[in-house]
Amino acid sequence: MAKKIIRSIALLTGGGDCPGLNAVIRAVTKTAINVYGLEVWGVEDGYLGLIENRLRQLHQQDVSSILTLGGTILGTSNTANPFSFAVHKKSGQVEFVDVSDRVLSTIREKNIDALICIGGDGTMATAAKLAKLGVTVIGVPKTIDNDLVGTDTTFGFDTAVTTAAEALDKIHTTASSHHRVMIVEVMGRYAGWIALHAGVASGSDVILIPEIPFHIDKVAEFIMDRARRGKRFSIITVAEGAKEKGGSLTVRQTIKHSPDPIRLGGIATRLSSILEEKTGHETRAVVLGHIQRGGTPTPYDRVLATNFGFHAITLLMEKNLKGHLVVINNGQLGSIPLAKIAGKVRVIPKNHPLIQAAIGVKTSFGI
Ligand code: F6P
Repeated sequence: MAKKIIRSIALLTGGGDCPGLNAVIRAVTKTAINVYGLEVWGVEDGYLGLIENRLRQLHQQDVSSILTLGGTILGTSNTANPFSFAVHKKSGQVEFVDVSDRVLSTIREKNIDALICIGGDGTMATAAKLAKLGVTVIGVPKTIDNDLVGTDTTFGFDTAVTTAAEALDKIHTTASSHHRVMIVEVMGRYAGWIALHAGVASGSDVILIPEIPFHIDKVAEFIMDRARRGKRFSIITVAEGAKEKGGSLTVRQTIKHSPDPIRLGGIATRLSSILEEKTGHETRAVVLGHIQRGGTPTPYDRVLATNFGFHAITLLMEKNLKGHLVVINNGQLGSIPLAKIAGKVRVIPKNHPLIQAAIGVKTSFGI
């Protein structure tokens, strides 16, 4: 394949924000300018900025001192999909239209030769469609949920687990003082990675994850058994996507104009009244929510994000690759075609070693 000459790139951050985005923006921008002398454009608010032609040129000084900063200096959007863009009618109705031609004309007008898309599954699904239209795209995987297929991990996950584990440690002392059952709800969508890791790290007594539908009576029995053995408090870490066997997901909100309209949440509060009634033990629910997405990335996430950003530019400039996602497997950086991951979610295998280890230390999964 003839090598495409790349002189100018644009980068965007799409979907929910997560710690480490700025570290990638910094790595991409500095490598592109320092190593390859490229012109770099930052797209504002994810794909919305490409639709609305809102880009600003990024220089070295724009990305200086942002390595440890949470969020994204470019802004993001988790509702702007150029292939199904919500247009609000005067009647109050919402119509979804294909505005990908506006993205292509922004790219043409700014003379952008390649696009670096930093995001999760939704961002990558759109990136894959743009690649099909002929845009040179490289994806960089981000999400606190750790649910992207093809990569062992994503940046943001380690920070989210650290935040959740710290919160659980604090819950421990108050649970113990008041002899209460405390239920802590963590994010993660349809995967239980955050709950499993934070639950194990904090020594939670019960961990409830989407991959293992639970029996509420087993959870109640486990808590009462602990009490009989003199353990007058219990800590439950529950993933927002966990559900009872035969039951349904707990939905917090439906956002009609979002490509992924379901927002999970509320299971801790629901479980708290049921368990209080079944066990007779005072029970409280805590929802950690967006705290897990904020703050300073851990050193692990900063290193991963820097590696991902550098590798994205290397794939583009040295390997002449397009339509690929940067990944890490067994500690090795690599890439896979974006088309291979579209529409898939990486959940925890039921025989995952960490589940086995948790069971080994007598953690209940409610089964
Ligand atoms: O995908 C990241 C995430 O934080 C999920 O864990 C959570 O379910 C969702 O985004 C929340 O989305 P929003 O910010 O739209 O409420």
